[in-house]
Amino acid sequence: MNENDSEKLRGILEKEGYEREDDLSKCDFVVLNTCSVRENADDRFFGHLGDLKHLKDQRNSLVIAVCGCMMQQKVFVDKIRDKYKCVDIIFGTHNIDRFSKLLRDRLEHNQRVEEILSDTDNIVEGMPTAREYDFKAYVSITFGCDNFCSYCIVPYTRGREKSRRSENIIQEIKKLVADGCKEVMLLGQNVNSYGKKSNGECTFAELLQKISGIAGLKRIRFMTSHPKDLTDDVIEAIKSNKNICHSIHLPVQSGSDKILKLMNRHYAREQYITLVKKMRKEIPDITITTDIIVGFPQETEDDFRQTLDIVEQCEFDSAFTFIYSPRIGTKAAVMDGQIPEDVTKERFNRLLETLYNGMSENAAVYQDTVQEILVEGYSKSDNSILTGRTMNNKLVNFEGNAKPGDIVSVKITKAQTFYLSGTQL
Ligand code: 5AD
Ligand code: SF4
Repeated sequence: MNENDSEKLRGILEKEGYEREDDLSKCDFVVLNTCSVRENADDRFFGHLGDLKHLKDQRNSLVIAVCGCMMQQKVFVDKIRDKYKCVDIIFGTHNIDRFSKLLRDRLEHNQRVEEILSDTDNIVEGMPTAREYDFKAYVSITFGCDNFCSYCIVPYTRGREKSRRSENIIQEIKKLVADGCKEVMLLGQNVNSYGKKSNGECTFAELLQKISGIAGLKRIRFMTSHPKDLTDDVIEAIKSNKNICHSIHLPVQSGSDKILKLMNRHYAREQYITLVKKMRKEIPDITITTDIIVGFPQETEDDFRQTLDIVEQCEFDSAFTFIYSPRIGTKAAVMDGQIPEDVTKERFNRLLETLYNGMSENAAVYQDTVQEILVEGYSKSDNSILTGRTMNNKLVNFEGNAKPGDIVSVKITKAQTFYLSGTQL
């Protein structure tokens, strides 16, 4: 979501005549679009801001804007007001459409501009967007979140859940396809609750069906699915439409019923396991990825073993693993029984070991198969090697003569834990 916002911010700037420059020392204007989901993102922001402060000491004409989730939290805005006079523009997540106006105000009046809204009902359509790739695109379908998982800052920084009108989503995707886009990633904090709060709007499964019918669109992905809201009609939509990718990101967070309850997740471990088994039965080649938090308050060794057990039972294809990070203002941050760092780190390492064992077993089934790959670019370590993804989102590095944006057949010659290697046919 943060990356999609950055693409919009860049789109607005390009429309204003600005050009992208990755070398900081040459920039006239710098925008830091912040994330606040865990503490290390906050820390990195203040590190960058410190560097910019030095740069501005040397070059007073530099203009600095800060925006995103951190700016929706008073504690950070107060700190910036107090300690970082170098910042020229501050705005939040609800008014990125006002960016060019705020920038003009700053340039005209030569004083700090601040505009932070606590929430909004407004969904702005048609914002210019400078996309990273022309063959794949993010498309937001919902904004905000109403779930209030007890560890999570997002409902506070992104406000209440709102769904875009399906006509607007379809129109945007049709335009993308006309411009050469082959893959869309539908974005929402909980895509499965799409449309629920909007009178007369379709369900997420119906939205998938409609998008699937757009001629020329090769691949549809979506993220994130909340296990409590993933319904059979969505599984059916994935199963029965050729261009909906057989991959799902389904954060489990913990394998312990006690912890899931404290997290306010609204499902039990057995429900989650049943859901995963059902999906694997209905769609045998589906890849299932997840998010896991280690060291949530009151997590005992036994609770943690339940997490290891669910990882073994669900045979995840990959996972984002996180050490619990207390976020100011959330319920979990003030719970009793915060877990010491050494205990959490030791558990985290054991989690990775279990996870990687399962991942390498899963990867082995791809050995000697032929996969259809959407080429995304070149390997970072060797630019003679192409890199891309299978329909079910496996990363593949391969030898061949294709170009980014092509869809080609690749024979998998080596299946490793984190990626597959192959040769273009
Ligand atoms: N601490 C650790 N991980 C977190 N996540 C969200 N909030 C926190 C937190 N306070 C993780 C969850 C979520 C992912 C996007 O980030 O696993 O699914
Ligand atoms: Fe955060 Fe839970 Fe909403 Fe995801 S569903 S954004 S974890 S509150």
